[in-house]
Amino acid sequence: MCTEPLAEKTLREYAFAPRDFELVKRMIYARAGIALAGNRQEMVYTRLTKRLRATGSPDFSEYLNRLDKNAEDQEWEAFVNALTTNLTAFFREEHHFPILAEHIKSRRNGQTMKLWSSAASTGEEAYSMAMTMVEAFGSIKPPVRILATDIDTNVLATARRGIYTTERLENMPPARIKRFFLKGNGRQAGFVQIKQELRDMITFRQLNLLDTNWPLYGKFEAIFCRNVMIYFDKPTQYRILQRFTPLLGQEGLLFMGHSEIFAHAADLIRLCGRTVYKKVEQDAKRER
Ligand SMILES: C[S@@+](CC[C@H](N)C(=O)[O-])C[C@H]1O[C@@H](n2cnc3c(N)ncnc32)[C@H](O)[C@@H]1O
Repeated sequence: MCTEPLAEKTLREYAFAPRDFELVKRMIYARAGIALAGNRQEMVYTRLTKRLRATGSPDFSEYLNRLDKNAEDQEWEAFVNALTTNLTAFFREEHHFPILAEHIKSRRNGQTMKLWSSAASTGEEAYSMAMTMVEAFGSIKPPVRILATDIDTNVLATARRGIYTTERLENMPPARIKRFFLKGNGRQAGFVQIKQELRDMITFRQLNLLDTNWPLYGKFEAIFCRNVMIYFDKPTQYRILQRFTPLLGQEGLLFMGHSEIFAHAADLIRLCGRTVYKKVEQDAKRER
């Protein structure tokens, strides 16, 4: 195994010593729960050098120590934004959306039902949930509100704007595109914007899943927490799941990513479909 410090391997703009990487790992873990693998040095270097330049920091030590010393420093936001991975797509893991539609229709009770996209990234997941609801109820005003949250303020700004390149719609049926998107012309050619009615169904807010105080009220009929748990270690995953379950309605569904396995949380959630979970009811737990 090569243990040479990164800075010595190639000529770099900034020296990046193993102790700098270890400090970044400790800081992002404490702040966002993200457990960076040992092979992420190159990624960290590339992403954070932009922050060193933007802040005029002379080196990694100065930049990291500045943050480490002051938990309130405004640069923390940009530091976290730089280190998140935001890959997403419209109707990603498509099999979830018919399950969501059936579930919500079966739960219809004359009241507004709440859904939560808890690692929303640039918004495609929440907009896919909204389109699914409009299609399921045959109404542009279905009885549903969607909360969409993420730790990363940059992706949330993109999500709120609801503007995407047309390539992002590659696999979407034309009827869906026509119904839910406005096509850009002139300088906006090559871009689409989500129609206002759909945007009105969603509230985008910053929320760190690691925070001990989530300002959330009432129960959700469904929580999407897809493709973010993979960045957390098992104790962190367990603590987050412990906090999801009281927020789920009695029959509420928890939608998780395809590569996320929760055998260690079998006392909290049980599989009820492909990567779809329900909470384990307290009574059932006591009977065991
Ligand atoms: C790979 S994206 C997944 C997006 C979407 N859920 C999907 O499956 O397509 C992971 C998202 O989790 C967010 N994230 C990472 N750590 C987080 C935390 N502690 N709290 C909230 N969101 C977090 C990232 O900012 C990123 O946008």
